[in-house]
Amino acid sequence: MNRIHTSLEELDPQVHAAIKNEERRQSKGLELIASENFTYRAVLEATGSVFTNKYAEGYPGRRYYGGCEFVDVVENLAIERAKKLFGAEHVNVQPHSGSQANMAVYLTVLKPGDTVLGMNLSHGGHLTHGHPLNFSGKYYRIVPYGVRKDSEVIDYDELARLAREHKPKLIIVGASAYPRTIDFDRISKAAKENGALMMVDIAHIAGLIAAGVHPSPVPYAEFVTSTTHKTLRGPRSGLVMCREQFAKDLNRSVFPEMQGGPLVHVIAAKAVCFKEAATEEFGNYIRQVVRNAKTLAARIASRNFRIVSGGTDTHLMLLDVFSKGINGQQAEQALDKAGITVNKNAIPFDQNPPLTPSGIRIGTPALTTRGMKEAEMEAIGDWIVDVLDHIGDETVQKRVRREVETLCERFPLY
Ligand SMILES: Cc1ncc(COP(=O)(O)O)c(C=O)c1O
Repeated sequence: MNRIHTSLEELDPQVHAAIKNEERRQSKGLELIASENFTYRAVLEATGSVFTNKYAEGYPGRRYYGGCEFVDVVENLAIERAKKLFGAEHVNVQPHSGSQANMAVYLTVLKPGDTVLGMNLSHGGHLTHGHPLNFSGKYYRIVPYGVRKDSEVIDYDELARLAREHKPKLIIVGASAYPRTIDFDRISKAAKENGALMMVDIAHIAGLIAAGVHPSPVPYAEFVTSTTHKTLRGPRSGLVMCREQFAKDLNRSVFPEMQGGPLVHVIAAKAVCFKEAATEEFGNYIRQVVRNAKTLAARIASRNFRIVSGGTDTHLMLLDVFSKGINGQQAEQALDKAGITVNKNAIPFDQNPPLTPSGIRIGTPALTTRGMKEAEMEAIGDWIVDVLDHIGDETVQKRVRREVETLCERFPLY
């Protein structure tokens, strides 16, 4: 028998078992990692489709391989849908990930050594916005900006001052752990006044922007990058939008400068998620994500935990656990034992090292996809505080774990 017809279970029982175990883990626990979501069955189908077999270097209508007529269909669908969804002049859907979407922009407008303003990682920024261990921090001269100490909101005056002082070629906006609405208009003024280009990385808030719940940066920024797997709820991947004047250079930066063949199966899945993100149902989902985050933050705060910046406007919050004498790693591990998955995270002006930071990051996109609403968020807020207030107490962890499993049974996954 030809081995390509053999099922996964038969061909590779170890990988099959790991997938089954992961399915069980995802369905039996509470997934509160802010950058994760449960994607559509349709997206899983598209990513598992025969497009995984296809090479398609180039762009629709201009490929370096034959047999691309159906590849062109899905790539054109993805491009047109993303343009409409975000109101963008030009879209490239080929970057394999959010990091590569950002790299594509840097390759388009920067030369090694150029000055860039990026949000400080410890204030919520992303590795690819200039961390010294990342290519962005190695090849460009990064000037970090951050949040104000009093409000923990972006210090827009300081950002404008840094732009005047350093005259950066590019200002990078966007974050991985920032819970407040970002004022793109204000930052674009600082960029224009100092001759800088602006790139906004909406990896986290793309779904909120698509649903009109967060202002769009598209009218303000020359470039907008994103992932497609967080609030947008699509496959693990990236995209770049830009003004028409940069379209040709951007396309050349993605291919052939940065990547080879596109992942066509993932592009097909991106087309599916852009279609869905334009629906009223998706808008309702995103509004619930934000209501859930606000409810969860308020419940946790009502039990004497400090929420960074005092709350959230988005799908995520940062909890300062060090104010209660524990670190983020201890909190993450204790919650994990209780069936609640979060990640440790630095908080602004953190005094502790990255592996044992002062905070945890909590987000509601995944649980909202399961159908959970305000009542469940209040219960979950109580469980989180119960576990953290009794750190290391296995009786509390076991009690919460039982309650988590009962709740999860009411909200089946897939
Ligand atoms: C703001 C931001 N940009 C980019 C990325 C990178 O995305 P990826 O993990 O797909 O490379 C992330 C992922 O966490 C992110 O939060």
